Amino acid sequence: MVLNRDMDSINRRVVLRAHPQGLVRDDDLAIEQGPVPQPDEGQLLVRNHWLSVDPMIRIFIDAAPLGGSVPPMPIGTTVPGPAVGQVIRSNRPDFAVGDWVEGRLGWQDYALSSGQGLNRIDPDDGPVELALGMLGLPGFSAFVGLDVAGPLAQGTILLVSGAAGAVGSAVGALARARGLHAIGIASGPGKCAWLRKTGYADAVDRTAPDFAEQLARAVGDRVDLYFDNVGGPMMDSVLPLMKRGGQVLICGLMAQYDDMVGREGGGHDRLPAFLAAVMARGLIVKAFANIDHLALRPAFLAEMGAIIRADPAIARVHVTQGMEQVPAAFRRLFTDSVVGKSLVRI
Ligand SMILES: NC(=O)c1ccc[n+]([C@@H]2O[C@H](COP(=O)([O-])OP(=O)(O)OC[C@H]3O[C@@H](n4cnc5c(N)ncnc54)[C@H](OP(=O)(O)O)[C@@H]3O)[C@@H](O)[C@H]2O)c1
Repeated sequence: MVLNRDMDSINRRVVLRAHPQGLVRDDDLAIEQGPVPQPDEGQLLVRNHWLSVDPMIRIFIDAAPLGGSVPPMPIGTTVPGPAVGQVIRSNRPDFAVGDWVEGRLGWQDYALSSGQGLNRIDPDDGPVELALGMLGLPGFSAFVGLDVAGPLAQGTILLVSGAAGAVGSAVGALARARGLHAIGIASGPGKCAWLRKTGYADAVDRTAPDFAEQLARAVGDRVDLYFDNVGGPMMDSVLPLMKRGGQVLICGLMAQYDDMVGREGGGHDRLPAFLAAVMARGLIVKAFANIDHLALRPAFLAEMGAIIRADPAIARVHVTQGMEQVPAAFRRLFTDSVVGKSLVRI
């Protein structure tokens, strides 16, 4: 079956032109055009409408991802970002033309898929783009992180870095629903005010000159759980505030993605101070990858769906228009953050 309405003859793709050195530059990525691919037997063709720009992509496109433990992505590859789109051709019985789907479809207009890893979206559940934000991988990462942390009693003091971002805003929403006392770190008074309205008991501006003092006033040294989305120098401010026996939960390290192995050698070595704090305070350190916990997805969708139905404004997205803006929107994640989930509409 074919849905002609959406067919076009050109497929624009954001491809890797050069492995970034440090902060990604717009011209590390290029937009190329080619013919729309045609699905083989067992494949689908999806017309993408929403592309997700995610910090983790910076690791994928590095010259030596994760210190060289994964091979680099070949130059010319379509950047494999998540996307939401509509099936326009289907050679599979399990997906019909017109179905809305989410998956790692790549930063392009049209994507072929075998159906593996695709999630069907019901547009009656709300705006389809939320499947890339609070109802998608960022929200799921927040849910998984709190699950990995283990049972958290009401009133648990939870400190969250990158709190106004896609994952952090979902942590705040879950914290409010579960009666946790969440304190968010974000840049600027505007974002902090938004956090206080949307689940965070308090928020601290990381750009304030007296940030460390403000943070200490907000949490004392009573942090039960540090939900870390950024890594980097923020850890220096947080470690002295951890409660004895508290947990450091590493969700992401986006402050370090430009230089995961200290190639540039600019910063000081934080490992000795980190280990000393772990020992002195008896800290538990955990990390997780959401894909290792896919069995939690139905429970996540049920809880987060109910939270968003009760307060739709909590699921904020920041929308940039146009395929040509994808490289700049991606770069902005690291230079000029926004509130909520960053998306590009194409
Ligand atoms: N473990 C997993 O399975 C998993 C899954 C998805 C994502 N992640 C990770 O989770 C983290 C958050 O992802 P996201 O999608 O929420 O990203 P996001 O929407 O870009 O939000 C991240 C926030 O971090 C703050 N930030 C950025 N650079 C920073 C820096 N150098 N120092 C301090 N804060 C900084 C920014 O807020 P302010 O400027 O307001 O502070 C930004 O809003 C990333 O590290 C990502 O890789 C992990």
